[in-house]
Amino acid sequence: MYKLHDFLIQPPLSEGWTKSLLFVFFFVHILFVLLMLGTAIMASFYYFRSWRPHGRVGTGTEMLAPFTAHKSLAVVFGVGPLLLIQAGLSAPFFMATSLLAPWWMLIIALLVISFVFFDAPGKRFHADHPFIGLAVMAVAIVTLLVVPAIFTLTLSVAENPSWWEGMAQKGFLSSGSEWHWLLRYLHVLGAAIVFAAAFHYFLGVKYLGRKGADAMVGWMAGGTLLQFISGPLLALTVSGKLGFHPVLFMVIGISAAAILLWTIFKRSGKSLCPMATIPLMIVLLVSMLSVRQFLQDSGFSPVLREAKKNRALYAAAIEPFRKEALDQYKARLATVYDNGGTIFKNSCAFCHGGNASGNGPEASNLSIRPEDISSIRTNRAYLYKILADGIPDTSMPYFSFFDKDKVDDLIIYLDRNYRVLGPIEPLKAAVSQDAMKKAEEFYKETCSNCHGMDGRGGKIPLKPGPPDFTQYNLVPTKVFEVVSKGYPGTAMPSFGGLPEDIRWGLVKLVNDFY
Ligand code: HEC
Ligand code: HEC
Repeated sequence: MYKLHDFLIQPPLSEGWTKSLLFVFFFVHILFVLLMLGTAIMASFYYFRSWRPHGRVGTGTEMLAPFTAHKSLAVVFGVGPLLLIQAGLSAPFFMATSLLAPWWMLIIALLVISFVFFDAPGKRFHADHPFIGLAVMAVAIVTLLVVPAIFTLTLSVAENPSWWEGMAQKGFLSSGSEWHWLLRYLHVLGAAIVFAAAFHYFLGVKYLGRKGADAMVGWMAGGTLLQFISGPLLALTVSGKLGFHPVLFMVIGISAAAILLWTIFKRSGKSLCPMATIPLMIVLLVSMLSVRQFLQDSGFSPVLREAKKNRALYAAAIEPFRKEALDQYKARLATVYDNGGTIFKNSCAFCHGGNASGNGPEASNLSIRPEDISSIRTNRAYLYKILADGIPDTSMPYFSFFDKDKVDDLIIYLDRNYRVLGPIEPLKAAVSQDAMKKAEEFYKETCSNCHGMDGRGGKIPLKPGPPDFTQYNLVPTKVFEVVSKGYPGTAMPSFGGLPEDIRWGLVKLVNDFY
């Protein structure tokens, strides 16, 4: 169903823990977001209203005093939910942030501009450059207001998997979700005004004065009324998802809001009592966040369920490969600690073959076939050199990572099984004097160019170069085979056209260098 997501990583916390912690962190985060946002809205309002080219700095900038604390706490506590969502609910979250990537990234720039500009105007500009002050304040509030719009948009997208494919193809406007988003955004702004007004009412007496305090109550009432309008409309846009729990918490929230409004209108000149108002507002916030959380869960859970199912499926699919890799790894470990036989089995046999005849499972993939080790006759020092350096320009690797004991053990193994350090067996066929002479001539004319008159290698540089026949040789039948067929992939040509007795003569010559 949801083709656009997959994940394989095991979440660090159980779903229950993730959701509970998310709720707590989100509560604290959103509280400071609301205070910051509401303060900024009201401060800007007063600033613009009282702005005169040469007037005094208005009420607005005074209200901004706690703004720095609020914005810092909002950001700091925002990290918690972000981390939890990434860790426990990554599939829908990453889907939404990828679909909205440019907007999501824009948040950083917007916040930086807005935060810097809010700190700037009143103190720095207003007295000397009132118009710059005005512009700075306008940019500050506009940039700040865009941020919650992006956040609500991202969450809406994360919670609605059915939009994803359409959005990926045709962009956000294809989802038909603009109303949900807009109302959700308004609902956040309304809440921000109510909570920030209450904050300044109870804690900002110093700069507000009697008139200002009354104005704050006005903002609270206005904001709550706005919620009474935007809330039900918002609920309509998610009516399909409203189960028992969301409705229950919605009823609690609406009741709390109604009582709040009632206390505001009934106070008749007296101050609002913090002991009644503040608990009411907490109930209001908790219940509304609960509604949000339940709706979010109902959006996320099919995605998470599917992701879990995929995780199990993929884990099962890669299990055999995992086992194979593990076995291979174990074998490799054993190689390090084990004897020549194991080293050969694990490090040589896949090229040289289990019986060392040069036909391991990888041999046919190599342009130069591995040597038939059982036909090699050489000495310990030369074999050491081969194993330490490999054969340059071929796939024969070097094994300098084995310590001396292991290489010794390997050489013992090769000698015991294939007599690589033994003498060369005498030639079976007898070669006539005449054939021998012809062979010597042929060697001088042809072979010596590459192999040298002394068998140690000629002057022509070749890749790979020929071996030093005085240190490294092959059993007669093998030399005969190489001379007759060549060594495919190397410069060694085939001399199958030569009469057989001359070829045997060449074999004797080659062997005699040793
Ligand atoms: C990746 C494949 C590969 C592996 C692994 C490998 N070899 Fe080789 N080996 C070759 C090839 C190819 C040649 C032939 C090189 C040539 O003819 O120039 C070769 C040649 C040799 C030769 C002959 C040297 C010569 O001058 O032709 C010896 C001895 C040898 N290997 C031993 C070993 C031993 C022992 C191991 C394991 C520790 C080993 N090889 C692992 C591919 C491999
Ligand atoms: C054009 C250069 C060239 C000529 C000519 C040539 N060889 Fe070689 N020969 C090589 C090279 C290079 C190798 C190494 C192949 C390899 O890496 O295994 C080789 C390998 C061999 C080997 C086997 C060694 C091994 O490592 O398997 C024998 C035996 C041999 N040559 C004999 C002869 C004889 C005999 C002649 C003349 C009839 C001859 N070669 C002519 C280049 C040449």
